[in-house]
Amino acid sequence: MASIVAPVLFIQCLLSILLTTTLAAPINITRETFRTCRPGDWVGIPADCCPPKVIKGPIVDFCPQHDASKPLRVRKALQCLSGHELKTYTRKLERGYALMRALPDSDPRSFKRQNAIHCAYGTGSFIQDGSTNLTIDIHLNWHFLPWHRMFVYFHEKILQKLLGDPEFSLHFWNFDNSVTATPRHGSRGCYKAGHFVPPMYNDPSKATFEANRSFMAFEPNRAVDLAFDLSQWNPAVGPPTFPNNTVEEQTRMNREIMHRSMITLANTTNFIGKAYRVGDARIVNPAAGAGTIELWPHITLHTYIGGWMLQPITAPIDPIFYPFHANMERLWSVWRKLGYGNDDPTDPDWLDATFLFWDENAVMRRVKTRDFVDLNALGYRYEEVNDASWIFFDNSTSPGAP
Ligand code: C2O
Repeated sequence: MASIVAPVLFIQCLLSILLTTTLAAPINITRETFRTCRPGDWVGIPADCCPPKVIKGPIVDFCPQHDASKPLRVRKALQCLSGHELKTYTRKLERGYALMRALPDSDPRSFKRQNAIHCAYGTGSFIQDGSTNLTIDIHLNWHFLPWHRMFVYFHEKILQKLLGDPEFSLHFWNFDNSVTATPRHGSRGCYKAGHFVPPMYNDPSKATFEANRSFMAFEPNRAVDLAFDLSQWNPAVGPPTFPNNTVEEQTRMNREIMHRSMITLANTTNFIGKAYRVGDARIVNPAAGAGTIELWPHITLHTYIGGWMLQPITAPIDPIFYPFHANMERLWSVWRKLGYGNDDPTDPDWLDATFLFWDENAVMRRVKTRDFVDLNALGYRYEEVNDASWIFFDNSTSPGAP
């Protein structure tokens, strides 16, 4: 008997190894992934941020459902808010954050727990089901854009719920905008270019302030550096050093880098980032996996702002993370509309990647990338702003362009 069973088992085992190693499959986060979560790291910096190992209650499939008879909510550009609108928005956001920070750590919607879930997803703390060493990461690969859209989406839902205002929209930091006084439909203009840190995030009296940032981020009239030296991204190599560019110099560099990341270098593979599926090992070198906008302006701005923002273990502790990432995903939508054959991947391993998030009712949701590619289906849109200054930037005349 044993002589027959052994070869059969061997063949079954071989088959399953062949199947799991040769058949690619989308990343899939499950109860098991949470159960096997273990401390991870970011460039060798240890991270201990696993959520509770047991997911209580059901996991409910997320299905985007926007009632087409209702208008889309609008996420607006922060630099274009003024007067009453700015006051109302600031007051709401402050109240939202006070309520979110007051939730106990046992509540997955608390400010702290939202940071922890980003940390777990971003430090190789989750292991691919059935593997002992292959981890899951949502940076430096093609999950970066959709995963962060999901993360900000649920953050906004939680704010809506805490505020009792289902129409509340999280506005965005239009950091790529270097045009002062953009005319808007109607009579208003934007008070300032977008590439300054939005004042409400730099005002120590506000809940949106964070003291743990690099000194550069606090200079109110300094344009942020989207072209920041990328070799300084790794906190393990020491604190970054900052150039001292004038606003004019910085503006030119920012336009150039946006043009490069969104157009010159940005075909679909380069823009979305490297494939990352079941069986793939974690990518640790940004240049080896990240899409163009994940490198510039994303990593560059994280580094430039510094403090908590310097690494995925802590980045969402700084409230600026959220309007910053809202603009990142707005740029994704802009990229799709630019032409040049730009389009999202059609690979099912991208579309069917499945993640788990707690929603505004602390219910666990199973979320697929394919449900986060169409903003309108999710019920919101971005205010139109002026992207022309970098779209039409003439790359050929830029000193130092590669
Ligand atoms: Cu998960 Cu801007 O980072």
